[in-house]
Amino acid sequence: MGTLKLLSIFGTRPEAIKMAPLVQALAREPGIVSLVCVTGQHREMLDQVLGFFGIEPDFDLKLMVRNQSLNALTGAIFTALDPILEAERPDLVLVHGDTTTAMAAGLAAFHRRIRVGHVEAGLRTYHMDRPFPEELNRRVIDVAGALLFAPTARSKDNLLSEHVEGEIVVTGNTVIDALQVTQTRIAADAALRARLDAPFAALDPDKRLILVTGHRRESFGEGFRNICTALRILSERKDVEIVYPVHLNPNVQGPVREALGGRANVHLPGPLDYLSFQRLLGRAHIVLTDSGGVQEEAPTLGKPVLVMREVTERPEALDAGAVILVGTEVEKILAAARLLLDDDAAYARFAECINPYGDGDASRRIVDRICGRPVDEFSANATKSKAAPTLRPADGSPIMVARD
Ligand code: UD1
Ligand code: UDP
Repeated sequence: MGTLKLLSIFGTRPEAIKMAPLVQALAREPGIVSLVCVTGQHREMLDQVLGFFGIEPDFDLKLMVRNQSLNALTGAIFTALDPILEAERPDLVLVHGDTTTAMAAGLAAFHRRIRVGHVEAGLRTYHMDRPFPEELNRRVIDVAGALLFAPTARSKDNLLSEHVEGEIVVTGNTVIDALQVTQTRIAADAALRARLDAPFAALDPDKRLILVTGHRRESFGEGFRNICTALRILSERKDVEIVYPVHLNPNVQGPVREALGGRANVHLPGPLDYLSFQRLLGRAHIVLTDSGGVQEEAPTLGKPVLVMREVTERPEALDAGAVILVGTEVEKILAAARLLLDDDAAYARFAECINPYGDGDASRRIVDRICGRPVDEFSANATKSKAAPTLRPADGSPIMVARD
């Protein structure tokens, strides 16, 4: 094999976290020239991740505009990326997931007749407006993609049922690669834990920690008002602390701070750097989220999750019983939270650690395929036979333990 030139393109926090282990693996591969282009769809939240993983982009399009519209962003990505594609002529462009960056970059490469590799291919809700616009974005990329890196057998089945043309490889999700490295580092270093805990010294250790994230467009307006009402009612309990690192989108910041600000046991930091967030995830009792990545991370750490969406493209943890879909109705959120807070037996059922999303080798499999080596595809069943490893977050709960 001659030298391959690869261009990885991403622009938001979750893409950066999930592409980072792959970018690091590509950099170690002698036959590959690996270039990174960030669109800057996110700025502060992206830079937090680039700094943590030590990634210095070769190109930074710097496209974030406050409260940017989807069309303005999409147009800007096409315009700014095209000269780079033309000048660099990579053999393969890698994009991740379902963001506007991924969709526009994938199409721009397709227009230039450059092969596209889609990391985290095949996730579906089959509801075009949930999540919006992500369901459309990932379908577009899967239609255009030549190499489709599906994280699970389920996502492969979705692609097969759509008769896509690209080659499908089941790899596991790279989010687990990043999580394993990070949780191992936190577990091994007491001084690091103390440093990460310092900004949260006000949290009462005798109370249960509820960790919240929420930022989906389809929940703007009434959905967020409901989520905040439910959190306000939950915060009246004397036995909980709530931490909600608030996404920088003004449509999220405004309503959340207005509804929840000024309560002693509700903490609303801005977006946390990845390491700090992973530490809080390790300390959490339950997690309320509409995030994709957090839905994958929390079950891996044995943290029960209330998913504040009507449908999810990540049904694996739902089927395994680690997740409750609560949507954005106040009563549903409260009922599920109370079940987990007040019924220890129910909590124990939800808190078994499972890893249907990956085994930490996703990036290696993707690199193997790109380099033309045989790939041992990821199987959640195969990881079940791996004995529970000694890897544990500092709170003592096991991680990466599979269950039937
Ligand atoms: C985007 C993705 C979504 C992903 C989410 C992860 C699309 C359509 N949506 O949504 O799939 O789950 O990122 O976080 O691609 N902002 C800042 N600083 C930042 C980031 C955002 O100020 O570092 C503000 C800006 O005003 C920006 C706004 O948030 O205009 C919205 O950002 P945008 O990337 O359009 O959408 P997200 O809601 O972040
Ligand atoms: N995350 C983080 N800081 C935070 C909240 C989340 O680093 O304050 C990480 C989290 O560990 C996960 C990812 O961000 O890996 C999820 O990103 P996000 O919720 O923005 O997007 P989604 O996964 O919904 O696309």
